[in-house]
Amino acid sequence: MKILITGATGFVGSRFVARWKNEYTLLTPSHAELPIDNAEAVLRYVSEARPDVVLHLAAISNTWHCEQHPEESKQINVMGALHMAQVAKAVDAKFIFFSSDQIYNGNEELGGLPESIAVKPENVYGYDKLEAEHLIAVQDAEAIMLRATWMYDAERENMRTHPNFVVNIANALRTQTPLTFATREYRGITDIREVVEILPHCFKIPGGIYNFGAENTLNTYETALAYARLLQRKKPDAFTILTPEQLILADPERFSTHIRNISIDMQKLHAVLPHNVRFSTTLKGLEKFVEREYI
Ligand SMILES: NC(=O)c1ccc[n+]([C@@H]2O[C@H](COP(=O)([O-])OP(=O)(O)OC[C@H]3O[C@@H](n4cnc5c(N)ncnc54)[C@H](OP(=O)(O)O)[C@@H]3O)[C@@H](O)[C@H]2O)c1
Repeated sequence: MKILITGATGFVGSRFVARWKNEYTLLTPSHAELPIDNAEAVLRYVSEARPDVVLHLAAISNTWHCEQHPEESKQINVMGALHMAQVAKAVDAKFIFFSSDQIYNGNEELGGLPESIAVKPENVYGYDKLEAEHLIAVQDAEAIMLRATWMYDAERENMRTHPNFVVNIANALRTQTPLTFATREYRGITDIREVVEILPHCFKIPGGIYNFGAENTLNTYETALAYARLLQRKKPDAFTILTPEQLILADPERFSTHIRNISIDMQKLHAVLPHNVRFSTTLKGLEKFVEREYI
């Protein structure tokens, strides 16, 4: 199987490539070789490459940057995705698009949100991901659109790592600087390793929109405190100055107008995956991460 990956140098892409480079033929053009906002360049590259699967990861993934540069976000996160979907369809390749749980960030319902809910994005990034989903679905009913959660990993050589949940807490611990987390926020936070393992299973599922990541019933403060306690159990020496309760502080003021709930319900995807392929909950994922990593 020949897989064309856009954004292969990014956080997700670099880890996908490292994991699957021996199992699949991977085409990993750089940004300069395949600028997704250039429709002609996309057509030229993909028509020649003729992949079986297009894994479209290239995007502006920084929500703040999108808020400051809405035109650029539109060009890359909407038009770039559309260009890729159109050409993937033309060469009969399965199209996999990374959308985001940020699509749910204006919703006021509580609990794990299913894909069927009417969504109300509140920021440029979420709005653009939603628009891209709509445009892709019109192009290609077989396209797979994955609403990914915030993902984490340790920093690794030759792989891009953004600030993320475990790195932020590791830095706080190293510098002994307390961090605050919102008590009025609910979101799934997912180990990138599970994302990368599960992705190839999604090449075979029916087209449509799927939540894609960890379910989480804890609020973000509770999640962070639970993680710090797991770290303490593994490395008690790191907590001799600040205890987990002193390192992780509650912020009850953030999201004061309505609880920010972008936590996802995973029933739809889990129903079409093999029965032994499942995302862990956020807490279970963090437990496994602490078990295996030295952070
Ligand atoms: N990271 C998360 O926690 C998270 C959560 C939910 C959803 N997502 C989504 O998951 C996907 C992958 O995210 P990520 O964290 O891996 O992103 P990332 O680390 O920011 O990487 C983005 C990639 O896109 C490339 N790129 C940007 N503009 C491009 C353009 N115009 N043409 C071609 N390539 C371009 C970048 O290449 P250069 O660096 O060379 O420009 C880079 O390889 C994105 O769609 C993101 O929105 C991510």
